[in-house]
Amino acid sequence: MAYTVITGASRGLGLELAEENARLGRSLILVALPGEELGQTAERIKKKYSVDVVALEADLTQKDELDRITQEITDNYDIDVLINNAGVGGTYNFLEASEDFLELIIDLNVRATVFLTYRLLPALLKQSKAYVLNIASLAALSPLPFKTIYPASKAFINFFSKSLAIEFFDKNILFSIAYPGPMPTNQQVKDQINSHGRSTRMFVLSAQRTAQIVMKQLFKNKQLIIPGFFNKLTALFIKITPCSIRKWYLRRTYSKELHVSKKYRHVKGIGNRSKWTIGSKHSKSTK
Ligand SMILES: NC(=O)c1ccc[n+]([C@@H]2O[C@H](COP(=O)([O-])OP(=O)(O)OC[C@H]3O[C@@H](n4cnc5c(N)ncnc54)[C@H](OP(=O)(O)O)[C@@H]3O)[C@@H](O)[C@H]2O)c1
Repeated sequence: MAYTVITGASRGLGLELAEENARLGRSLILVALPGEELGQTAERIKKKYSVDVVALEADLTQKDELDRITQEITDNYDIDVLINNAGVGGTYNFLEASEDFLELIIDLNVRATVFLTYRLLPALLKQSKAYVLNIASLAALSPLPFKTIYPASKAFINFFSKSLAIEFFDKNILFSIAYPGPMPTNQQVKDQINSHGRSTRMFVLSAQRTAQIVMKQLFKNKQLIIPGFFNKLTALFIKITPCSIRKWYLRRTYSKELHVSKKYRHVKGIGNRSKWTIGSKHSKSTK
């Protein structure tokens, strides 16, 4: 049986997508930053679901590491599902964000998604049926002040996926996009969600539930997947309300999250172990 490749699979939504694929009896190739959790996660899933699970450690923002793992995958495994899930974001005043942090969002959310897809697409096209699932966000559907690069990166993913879908419409491959709303995955996102009112918190969908809905819809050949009723309602609200009206709401809502990023300002990796910080404008990384 062919494998499902999932990036950012050591925790959060990626981990839940891995569990859900394994539950469906699918063998997995899990990709995340180097560290203990990924190997442990792979072993645990392997035992629990009796499927083969391969753990590949790589920093996807580094071209040589992306080259290495895509080569390893194409040399050794048949794949029929690619899930580009790894991604980062944050809330910040644009001019106070470090260049390194802005670069990280672009490198991981945009560049890694494009080049993983580019490198793995020939292998996917060899299968009788294949899927590329790109994890965007509701943020792909609207400009968001104080998040700037994040919604822009997800809007890129949106058009990237839709363009590929049209280009390859006569091939047996589905380019699907998921638009999750807020999910309490890492501590920073939990703090961001908590900075909003109770009404917002009530509508939050867990990463586990999101993964279940997304995989079910994907294998039903759904191209555009908005998990959960309230996320669908939000998407509709965005569609029918002009940005000129929403802008006051957006400014008020997202400025509430600014204090969260101040808390994480000097925490390296913004909830993961990579070497970046939101602030520290003058601390150029060693990249
Ligand atoms: N959480 C939300 O509210 C939300 C809402 C809408 C959309 N999304 C999208 O859903 C996806 C998953 O979000 P999440 O909240 O589950 O993220 P998360 O909990 O922060 O997990 C991120 C995952 O990506 C991996 N990763 C980070 N940097 C990496 C790099 N340079 N190279 C390789 N792997 C890297 C991490 O690996 P390590 O564990 O090794 O660090 C981890 O497995 C993202 O694309 C995000 O934009 C999230």
